[in-house]
This record gives sequence, structure tokens and C-alpha cells, in this order.
Amino acid sequence: MTGTDTSTETGTGAGADPAPGPPPGCPAHGLGPGRLRRLYGADAEDLGDLYERLREEHGAVAPVLLHDDVPMWVVLGHAENLHLVRSPSQYTRDSRIWSPLREGMVKPDHPLMPHIAWQPICSHAEGDEHQRLRAAVTGAMSTINHRSMRRHIGRHTQELVNAFCERGRADLVSQFAEHLPMAVICEILGMPEEYNDRMVQAARDALKGTETAIQSHAYVMDALSRLTTRRRNRPEDDVTSHLIGHPAGLTDDEVREHLRLVLFAAYEATANLLANALRMVLTEPGFRARLNGGQMTVPEAIEQSLWDEPPFSTVFGYFAKQDTELGGQRIRKGDGLLFAPAPGNIDPRIRPDLSAGMQGNRSHLAFGGGPHECPGQDIGRAIADVGVDALLTRLPDVQLECAEEELTWRASIASRHLVSLPVRFEPKPQQDAGRPPSPSPIPPQRSGWQVGALRTDPAPVPEPRQVPLPPALATEPERPAAPEPARRESAWRRLLRWWLGE
Ligand code: HEM
Repeated sequence: MTGTDTSTETGTGAGADPAPGPPPGCPAHGLGPGRLRRLYGADAEDLGDLYERLREEHGAVAPVLLHDDVPMWVVLGHAENLHLVRSPSQYTRDSRIWSPLREGMVKPDHPLMPHIAWQPICSHAEGDEHQRLRAAVTGAMSTINHRSMRRHIGRHTQELVNAFCERGRADLVSQFAEHLPMAVICEILGMPEEYNDRMVQAARDALKGTETAIQSHAYVMDALSRLTTRRRNRPEDDVTSHLIGHPAGLTDDEVREHLRLVLFAAYEATANLLANALRMVLTEPGFRARLNGGQMTVPEAIEQSLWDEPPFSTVFGYFAKQDTELGGQRIRKGDGLLFAPAPGNIDPRIRPDLSAGMQGNRSHLAFGGGPHECPGQDIGRAIADVGVDALLTRLPDVQLECAEEELTWRASIASRHLVSLPVRFEPKPQQDAGRPPSPSPIPPQRSGWQVGALRTDPAPVPEPRQVPLPPALATEPERPAAPEPARRESAWRRLLRWWLGE
């Protein structure tokens, strides 16, 4: 999926127009009391809130309006979302059968057109064609050596942290979360030399639909075209070469389109996941205390974040291949449905108490399901696990620099991004990026870790326990420990003693 951001941002759009009745051809015509709700404009200032109102009014599947009042269903129930993605005989991702599109209701300049327009990629294909394209993508990804990928992630994390650790403050969205996935994905695709600020900027721009989106998109596509040509002529051991060499026989256009799909899906979703998980660690003291105390591991924290804030709130779209029924609603052939992990993950039928942790339960909808289930989920999880772990190892005293209420978000139908995550910490020395992260000394004047935002309660004291090895470290091949400079070694000892409660 492309995850393209659009002008569906909350607070923009049609404003407070008088409420319309269901437009002609609307699948929900005659359904429910009152007017239909819009997933844009004034109705959608808080999409989370809107989904809950829709759940109350309509149950597990609700009729809504997209921009230009194009009708759509949004699937709010957990079971109904799963049924949608797991029933390829009833629903397809091929938008060409969508009635409003066929009837000319969706104009070429519709803000969701980047999601709507059919493209020759596995996300939009079905049946044999989907299998052919998807086999090439998953086949190429299966050649990734996960051990060395985790090392790349660790190294890039080290480099990113080195860039700001001496300053004592950073924005973890623009200086960390948006960079790490791009660095890793460029490496995996075989274009590490293309990873730089310009590439991150271009991808961000292309996805956010800013004025320069078209040039930015062209910049990324140009890099992917050059890569395709290079690897077609001279294959190497990377995802691009394996995609080209796969027996599915992808054309250069298909290769480029799938590289684009992978690059944007991986970049946007993983950047969101990293930012969301770090926000949770920084703002929820109980969360950080459980991590420090060993009652929760970083991968478990990432999984909790996938439940509470799935990186894609909804995915456009699925289309009914026949008349059917879902969640008590009558769905007509050609109707469009939004797969919606955000409301689906908090369906009260599976989560009556949202404050209860979901440890050990991975049945959230963040990665979709069925034939289109995200094939990159292990990569996304690895980037988040290793990245968060290494960052917290390097900056154990990191804390939010503003009050939690001051954090701002940019929301669209597709996702909800943190705009920035300003943090501060005691300045730390740089570390060798080729080595696993090690904890930097806690300055002697500090009596304990400051956890959470500046205005939170006193820092919880971690329980005495063994020092946990960060996963990034655990997966490193064994290597002889290089002698540490004397000052750092003694700081490490002090930290160890403190950790062990000695
Ligand atoms: C935390 C990170 C990620 C999340 C939350 C995520 C989520 C998703 C979701 C919800 C879908 C659509 C599923 C559906 O249509 O039912 C999807 C599809 C896809 N994702 Fe991811 N993704 C992530 C990371 C990645 C990464 C790292 C890659 C590649 C390296 C990737 C590649 C893809 C591809 C190729 C598809 C299309 C699959 C198909 O249609 O058959 N994703 N992802």
C-alpha cells in the first residue's frame, strides 16, 4: 500500500456546510437516522472520536462520505475487518469495480486519487496476478539476512544518535524516526549511497502532498529507475536484484513500481511506529517503568503501540465483488469499504478495557491480513525494536522537553503522524557506530532517572534485576570486547551497580 497522505487532514476541507442527505448511488441510502458523517472537514476534526460515534450509531460497519461526498463504508469491528481482508472471493482491492468511480462521481483531482487509481502493483492486484507479483516481492525479501539487517539498524541508530547526543536535545521525529527506516530500506534495496537528508525530505514531501510533491516523487522514482537499470545489468545480493531475477519475470516498470511500494510503505509506516512507540515510552511513566524494571520487553512495547496506534489508521480500500452483508449492513456489488485498523483494534467487543495491556497478543490489525497482509512486518518490527532499544540504551535519561499536551499531530484518513517529539537529556559522548550501543554514564549529580514529560510524577525506581541485553546486542555475533577508555568503564560499572541495586 502507498499510505499517501492527502488533503484529508483534519480541520480542512468543506468546513461546516449544511449536512447533505445521502447522495445518489450512495450504498447507505436510507440507512440510519440523521445525516451521513464525513470523514473530512469539520466532522473529522477528531477521527478517533468520529469512529466511536459511528460505532454507536451504526455498529460494526458504518456508511460515511469521503471528499466530494463520495460514499464509502468504514469497517469498525475487529472481526468484520478480519472478514473483509480474509475473503478474497467477496472483496477485492481492485478499485476499477468501485461504483462511484465507474459512475464518474470521483473526479480525477480527488484528493484520494493516489490511493484510488489502480496501479499494476501487488496491492491492487488479485488472484493469479496478485500471486505472481507478491511471490516476487516476498521471494526477494526472503533473501534478506536478518542478522546483518539488525546490525545495519544498530549501526544507523548509532550514527543518528551520534549526530545529536552531544547537544543534549533532539527532535526524535525529524532526527530519528523519519531517518532510520529510510536508511535501512535504502540499504536493503541496494542503494545505501542514495540515503541522505534529501531522500528523506523527498519521500516525506511526496507522501504529504505538499506543493513540491510531484518533483519530490520524481526525485525518488529517478533514484529507483537508476537502481533498476544498474541491477538489471549487474545483479548483486540485494532485494532489487532478487526482485529482478525472480522467476515471476517482472518488467522494469513492475520492478520500479514495487520498489516504490516497498520504499514508501516501509518508510511511512515504520517512521510512524517508531515515533508512536517513543512517545508512549516518554509520556506514560508506567510504561517506561515496566521496561526499565524488565516486566516488559521493547518488542512487547512495540506490539502494544501497534494495538493502540496502528501506523496506518485505515487502508483504502476494498471493493465488494457481489451483493453481500457485513456487520449487519447490506453491501452492494461495487461498494467501497475502508479497512480500518485504528477503530478495529479498539473494538469494545475484544477490548472492553483499553487500559489493559495486550502483552503476548499479536492479533491486532496493524499489518492487515489475508492475501494482502503486510509482507514487510518483520522488517518494520526489527527497525522499531532495535532502534528504540539502542536509543534508550544510549540515552537512558531522555525525557520529553515539552508538556505532553503540547505535542501536535497531523491526521489524515490514512494515518496520524506526530509532528515532532522534542526531547532533552544530559549531553553524551559519541560512540563507535560499528559497535553495539552501550549506556552512557549517568551524571553523578542525578539521583535517578527522570521518566516521562517534565511535568510527570517522580521517577519510578526500577526493580533490582539482571542488566537486560538489548536485542540489538543479543543478535550481534560474538566479538571480543574491546578495551573501553578507563573513564567510561568506571561509569559503566557505576551504572551496573546502580542497576543491580548495590
Ligand atoms: C510498522 C511497519 C508497517 C506497517 C504497520 C505496515 C502495514 C501494512 C498494511 C496495513 C498493509 C495493507 C494490508 C492489506 O491491504 O490488507 C501493508 C501492505 C504492504 N506492506 Fe507493509 N507495513 C509496514 C512495514 C512494511 C515494510 C518494512 C515493508 C517492506 C520492506 C512493507 C511492504 C508492504 C507491501 C509490499 C505491502 C503490499 C502487500 C500486498 O498487497 O500483497 N511494509 N503493510
